Amino acid sequence: MQIRRGQPGDRDALVAFNLAMARETEGRELDRKTVNAGVAAVFQSEDRGFYLVATSTDNKIVGGLLITYEWSDWRNGVIWWIQSVYVEPGWRRRGVYRRLYEAVKTDALERGSVAGIRLYVERENAVAHSVYESLGMKLAHYDMYEVDFVL
Ligand SMILES: CC(C)(COP(=O)(O)OP(=O)(O)OC[C@H]1O[C@@H](n2cnc3c(N)ncnc32)[C@H](O)[C@@H]1OP(=O)(O)O)[C@@H](O)C(=O)NCCC(=O)NCCS
Repeated sequence: MQIRRGQPGDRDALVAFNLAMARETEGRELDRKTVNAGVAAVFQSEDRGFYLVATSTDNKIVGGLLITYEWSDWRNGVIWWIQSVYVEPGWRRRGVYRRLYEAVKTDALERGSVAGIRLYVERENAVAHSVYESLGMKLAHYDMYEVDFVL
């Protein structure tokens, strides 16, 4: 298995992962066209973030995640958000996410300008909670509020 930056040619796999993840974790059917444009937009501007993907020895993408940015004036630094975490069902419990997360952490620490890493997770997604905690992340003391304008 290898970890590398996502590239424009990975778009179809990343779109499929997003659709599968929404279906699996929230029972939601996302609009493919919208997600396709949303993934493409990441490759169009580095300011939006970047994907990391895990590939098998035959070069198939077996897992991925998206990093986006939040500026923290409290810390005068950037917080990386991990989003769109997905590992192909046949590849789970084989350390794919662990490798992706280690790569994110190493990259963030090496830059020196990243103040921390955050993510949000569906309250009912017990597996994901266990995964994040087993890798050393702690449940934050914030609740999240939102207003939806689309979807
Ligand atoms: C959550 C997810 C990304 C984990 O990926 P993964 O590659 O299977 O995770 P790893 O194999 O790297 O597991 C790392 C550690 O997490 C824990 N873990 C993994 N799967 C677990 C499970 N089903 N139950 C409990 N703990 C689990 C273990 O401690 C594991 O280490 P170990 O195997 O050495 O014991 C994967 O299950 C997934 O894609 N789920 C569907 C999509 C999803 O929920 N995304 C997150 C949205 S916020």
